[in-house]
Amino acid sequence: MIRAFFALTLPDEVIDQIDRLQDAIPFGRAVPAENLHLTLAFLGEVSDQTLEAAHEAAESLVPEPFAIELSGLQHLGRAPGGVIAAGVAPDARLEALARALRSRLNGARVQLPRERFRPHVTVLRLRPGDAEDAALARLLGRHATFRAGPIPVTGLSLFRSYLGGETARHEELARYAFDPMDGRDEFSR
Ligand code: 2AM
Repeated sequence: MIRAFFALTLPDEVIDQIDRLQDAIPFGRAVPAENLHLTLAFLGEVSDQTLEAAHEAAESLVPEPFAIELSGLQHLGRAPGGVIAAGVAPDARLEALARALRSRLNGARVQLPRERFRPHVTVLRLRPGDAEDAALARLLGRHATFRAGPIPVTGLSLFRSYLGGETARHEELARYAFDPMDGRDEFSR
């Protein structure tokens, strides 16, 4: 079985901005630069056959490119623990992209966990005891004005996630450029 997800990758300037943000937060485990991404659809553990169906579903998507921005910080998941994530400035095109991808995956009988799409970029993971509620609330308030971008959305990627180490390792299996002139990577596994 293969643990996989579709995500947007981030430009280097945005990764640098997140890196500086991570340095300014005194608790939690920072997500390494190479793992920063915005998940569009988490597939979970899937068979080769399901992964192939998901790949074909994503290949049929050809939206217009657009750009988004990160905005503010939020705590996601259940305290104590969870993650600190950068939010995304509301964007109808991003919502439409996630909806189109998910609906194609459903059409291809790729079952997705029943989670609603909540666009974010996880920047730190918290362990119980890392931060008191009050410290967390202060942190979110202090960084409410965090902005990073623009993030050009010119394609999406299918990633495989390997668990096991201190942090997961992500491998890009395929890239789906929206502009056919950009070329599309072959699906490699
Ligand atoms: P995150 O950014 O909120 O951590 C690989 O596991 C990616 O899929 C992670 O970035 C994770 O999101 C996302 N994801 C979404 N739903 C998930 C779930 N139910 N379990 C694990 N990862 C999930």
